[in-house]
Amino acid sequence: MVSSLHRGADVISALQFTRSDIERLIRLAEDIRRIYESGGRLDIARNKVMFTAFFEPSTRTRLSFQFAMIKLGGAVVDLGPEEVSSMAKGESPEDTLRTVDSYDPDIIVVRHREPGFALKAAEICRAPVINAGDGYNEHPTQALLDVYTMWRLFNRVDGLKVGLMGDLKYSRTISSLSYALSNFYDITIYFISPRELKPREEVLRVLDQRRVHYEFYEKPEEIMEKLDVLYVTRLQKERMSPSEYERLKGSYTVTYSYLAGFKKIPFILHPLPRVWELTPDVDALPQAHYFEQAKNGLYIRMALIKTILGL
Ligand code: NCD
Repeated sequence: MVSSLHRGADVISALQFTRSDIERLIRLAEDIRRIYESGGRLDIARNKVMFTAFFEPSTRTRLSFQFAMIKLGGAVVDLGPEEVSSMAKGESPEDTLRTVDSYDPDIIVVRHREPGFALKAAEICRAPVINAGDGYNEHPTQALLDVYTMWRLFNRVDGLKVGLMGDLKYSRTISSLSYALSNFYDITIYFISPRELKPREEVLRVLDQRRVHYEFYEKPEEIMEKLDVLYVTRLQKERMSPSEYERLKGSYTVTYSYLAGFKKIPFILHPLPRVWELTPDVDALPQAHYFEQAKNGLYIRMALIKTILGL
């Protein structure tokens, strides 16, 4: 597969990424990290403008893209909450994007609850579009920071045994991370979830095509000590009916005392936000790496912005 990460490219799906794309971004993220952590600065995006349009709530993705752009010397214009834009008057997100695209941003980051919305936005906009989450479908830049985090922990991705746990059906981070991992050798994915929340068929089909080994479990204790990483996800309340949520709420929770019962505890990752599925007492474990994971998002997004802007 030919690299899809170049100047002006849209980033819509983790299926676009080749192994060398991911490795190149990781190397670049590490270089950028070294510069910033030693007090240096890059000022390469001067006169470049990023437009961030989040039609669904976000903390980390929105703010880390904004921080990343500003730290590279660029500027950011944010759509702001629905109440202050013409969305409140009934304007469609498509019309909003078409209009802002005509102001000539250099990069557009978009999140929307509708699966496929990022692709639609890329068709409407001249500027390169980055998918920051389209409904349950995908979240490709989260997959980049997740893989980057695993690489930092193990100095490799090949051969890792990764447990993906929780809402595997509606979590877009699960599909994108599975696709990104499928580029590496000898990966095993352990899908751990209540039966109703198994990954979607389209995700499994890709893993089959790419000959990735995966297994299903309902409880993590069945394979905990085999895992290198346990990646926990939140129940995607906004993507299910209230009765489904009530039925599944609390059906899986990782706590300190639960983990302390195992001889080997894997590294614990989570895309955040967490609710009840990962209790704050887990933060005390040396294996808890989700806040570092979030920080890695800053550097990998800086690397991605630099690449897409051709700087
Ligand atoms: C995730 C998302 O938006 O899909 N959050 C994030 O971007 N870090 C996970 C979630 O909301 O559960």
